[in-house]
Amino acid sequence: MILDGKAFVITGGLGSIGSATASIIVEKGGYAVLFDILPEETAKAKIQAFDQPEKYFYSKTDITNKEIMEASLTSILQQIPKGSLFGAVHCAAVNPNKPWTSKMSDKLEDFETVLKVNAYGTFLVDALVADAINSQYPPLDVFHERVTEERGVIVNLSSVVGHTPPARCLTYGPSKTCVLGITEAAADFLAPSGIRVNSIAPALVVSPLMASGDRMKYFQDAVEGYSMFPRRFTTPPEIAMAIIFLLENSMMNAFHLKVDAGWRQITSWANGIDPRKSVVVE
Ligand SMILES: NC(=O)c1ccc[n+]([C@@H]2O[C@H](COP(=O)([O-])OP(=O)(O)OC[C@H]3O[C@@H](n4cnc5c(N)ncnc54)[C@H](O)[C@@H]3O)[C@@H](O)[C@H]2O)c1
Repeated sequence: MILDGKAFVITGGLGSIGSATASIIVEKGGYAVLFDILPEETAKAKIQAFDQPEKYFYSKTDITNKEIMEASLTSILQQIPKGSLFGAVHCAAVNPNKPWTSKMSDKLEDFETVLKVNAYGTFLVDALVADAINSQYPPLDVFHERVTEERGVIVNLSSVVGHTPPARCLTYGPSKTCVLGITEAAADFLAPSGIRVNSIAPALVVSPLMASGDRMKYFQDAVEGYSMFPRRFTTPPEIAMAIIFLLENSMMNAFHLKVDAGWRQITSWANGIDPRKSVVVE
């Protein structure tokens, strides 16, 4: 798929991976439609700092809310060039970032919140973006012929901890496993309307969240211990380039791409260290 002239919704578009992806899409001649929960003024300031700010659109959107998502998509379809919506990069997600507790049941509330944003939100974004893409064509009836044109592509952000959820990602990990399942089911369901769906699994990416508290130090040790090569954090553009590959290569479908330098997730008790005493739990 050639990105020139095409528009992509980027949820969590003001975040680190979202904005890195948006700027490559725009560099390649596309339009970046950013959806995020942050205020308009924050978005305006960020967009003004990008090259070609006129190629960006912003809609303050909570991706867990169907009505708000629908209203944002309707409004965006009126602003971008007619027929130019070709997909989404779904980055918006949360992680609770709470300390370890003694009982799994302490995590029930977090589990509900995280599932709502990361799992239900992914289903909602994929479904409504697919509807918005298809709304640009004559209506399809329920048992329509399979279309032959490539109408679009969606990339969902999972995580390496969605592939193998460890104890310290008790709620976030399984929510990202849901992203893998939704990706495969959506790819199969949307195939007749010419829409591909893939997922990306980053490991540790430099982001504002990572910079808080002792997280960097904690994860640097984990990377040193369990990454293959290179043993360092990933930069947002390194994830964005992998996302662009999935957007551009029309043969990529129902695929989960790990961008993790061979990082392995384990809860290690090595060298007499109790992993539960570490500072980070999600
Ligand atoms: N950063 C990492 O180390 C890492 C690792 C693995 C996976 N991921 C995944 O990559 C994706 C992007 O991560 P990032 O590092 O850019 O995070 P980030 O925190 O920089 O960006 C996430 C953005 O999502 C927005 N958001 C949160 N809830 C929302 C909602 N309900 N509606 C709309 N927007 C909402 C936030 O405002 C924020 O701008 C996420 O899905 C994350 O789980 C990140």
